[in-house]
This record gives sequence, structure tokens and C-alpha cells, in this order.
Amino acid sequence: MSMVNVKLSEDLTVSGIAQGLWRLDQWDMSDRKLLKYVEEALDMGVTTFDHADIYGDYTCEQLFGRIFTLKPGLRKRMQLITKCGIKLLSPKYPQRKLKHYDTGYDHIISSVEQSLKNLQTDYIDLLLVHRPDPLMDPASTAKAFERLFRDGKVLHFGVSNFTPLQYQMLSSYYSGDLVTNQIEVSPYQLEHLENGNLDFLMKERIRPMGWSPLAGGNLYQPADARGLRVKQKLEEVAGQLGVDDMDKVIYAWVLRHPAGIIPVVGTGKTGRLARAVDALKIPLTREQWFGIYAASLGHDVP
Ligand SMILES: NC(=O)c1ccc[n+]([C@@H]2O[C@H](COP(=O)([O-])OP(=O)(O)OC[C@H]3O[C@@H](n4cnc5c(N)ncnc54)[C@H](OP(=O)(O)O)[C@@H]3O)[C@@H](O)[C@H]2O)c1
Repeated sequence: MSMVNVKLSEDLTVSGIAQGLWRLDQWDMSDRKLLKYVEEALDMGVTTFDHADIYGDYTCEQLFGRIFTLKPGLRKRMQLITKCGIKLLSPKYPQRKLKHYDTGYDHIISSVEQSLKNLQTDYIDLLLVHRPDPLMDPASTAKAFERLFRDGKVLHFGVSNFTPLQYQMLSSYYSGDLVTNQIEVSPYQLEHLENGNLDFLMKERIRPMGWSPLAGGNLYQPADARGLRVKQKLEEVAGQLGVDDMDKVIYAWVLRHPAGIIPVVGTGKTGRLARAVDALKIPLTREQWFGIYAASLGHDVP
């Protein structure tokens, strides 16, 4: 197994496969077991860990941060990503009456302060605005970025689920560079292959991160005709490649895109994470790639 690392900017290198922590609260791991899981990930070269303030109803960052009590030295071996900007309805915030977005200065600053505490660290490698906010005042968002950068609390900034125009708009207000857009990409979710987002990121030489590469596990239990078609084709290609599970084919399909997508994988199982890393070595032919694409579209390309 050998990892391919990716430079998101001059001084930010992440692993070519990133570990997502959205589902960490469902993994049912003791602190020691999680520490072992993270150490095994680091040993395979997966050094980038993707969080958000809201994951697990605001609990996942804290669960993860506890591994640094057991082993403080681990922090400098990894890159921590977290996100902000979504305000969930939660018993933690009883005064809140409606789920909404807030990408203003005050919320970003307080969200990061809380993430730093939860993650038991004094810096975040990369902070992402989780979703485009129709009420975003980009000057206010950029001012928060600049403040957090000056204070050494966040080293790099990016966005998630943004359109190219939203990306450029925020970028034009921020004095530094935005380093990625984290978007949903899988053989089931073709949106960003079709709406110009991946083309924009390639034009700008910005590496995307791709969330839910397995469509959140749904490709294993397809709920509709598209999912069934894709699963059948993935199994066929897995057979051709002599691969025992379609997950590797899915990762290889995402990795084959020239934008250089960094899959953010959601599994909590070491063996399955290792399979994602293994997929870096699987070159799909154009016909294999297009076969899966056509299965998702429901027809051959015109
Ligand atoms: N920016 C955003 O808006 C956004 C949104 C959603 C997610 N994300 C990020 O993306 C990460 C990944 O998302 P995701 O969890 O939806 O990713 P995913 O990798 O598409 O799905 C993971 C799910 O698939 C299951 N799975 C994996 N291998 C399987 C197999 N062989 N058979 C059956 N089930 C299998 C996993 O269960 P096991 O644990 O049992 O393997 C897990 O429940 C998140 O953790 C988060 O960091 C970002």
C-alpha cells in the first residue's frame, strides 16, 4: 500500500485519501479503540481527518479530540479539517428555533474556538465553510478568516458545496487563497461533473475533495433504478478486474477523474479504509469508466 500525497497549497499537503468523521458517533469505539484506528490510518498514509462542528449533533470533534489526551504527539502527524456555518437545531442550543446557516464573523470565530477546544488542539489545518449561505456577507466571512489566520488558529481556508461563482465571490474578498471545494462525487452523484464545478476547479488548479464516494453506503443497498444499474455495472467491472468488492472500483472511478479528486471516505473499518488506499493503484480503462458513467446516466453518451 502506498499513499499519494496532494499539495492543496504551497504549505498544505494532505493525503490522497482522507478519512471522514461524520459517522464517528456511530462507530461505538472506546477512546483506546479510536486511537488504534487512527494510528492504523496514519500507518497507511491516511493523515487527513475531515470533521465538522455539527457532526454527531456537535459530538464527533470532541470524541476525536480525546485521543490526544492518550497520545498528544499524534497531532503533528495529521492534518485536521473542520467546517462551520450550519446552525443545527440541537438540545445544545435550546434558544435556536430553526435550522439555518450563519457565515458571519461572530459565528465563524465562536465556532472555531469551540472546535479547537473539542479537538484539543491549538490550530486547525483547514477550515471550510460548510455550505453556501444565501445571506453570506463575504466581507464578514473573509474578515473572520483573516483574524483566525493572524491568530494562528486556522492555517488554511476553503469551502464546501459551493458553485464556481460562489467560490470566486468569496475568494475575491479574502486576501489569501481558498484551497479546496469539498463536493459530493460518486458514480451515483454526477452533479459536479455536469454543472461545470469540476471544470472550474481544474481551470483554477484547485484540487477538489469528494464526499460520500460510496453514496453514503447506498450503492450497497440501492433504493432506485439508477442505484441498481450502477451497482450491477460496478460488480461487472469488479469481476473484470478480479477485485472482490465494488468499493475499490468506486474509489478508482472517482480517482480516475482528471480533476484529482481526494475521496473523503466514511468507513470506520480499518480493512475498508485500506481498500480505499489500495484503489489508488487501480487504473480504470476509459471503457470501464464510461460504462459506469453510462449506467448512472441510464443511457450511452450521445
Ligand atoms: N462537506 C459536506 O457537506 C459533507 C457531507 C457529507 C459527508 N461529508 C464528509 O464525507 C465523509 C464521507 O461521507 P460518507 O460517510 O457518506 O461516505 P461513504 O464512504 O460514501 O459512506 C460510508 C458508509 O458506507 C458504509 N460502507 C463502506 N463500505 C461498505 C461496504 N463494503 N458495504 C456496505 N457498507 C459500506 C460505511 O459503513 P462502515 O463504517 O461499516 O464501513 C458507512 O456507513 C464524511 O465522514 C464527512 O467527513 C462531507
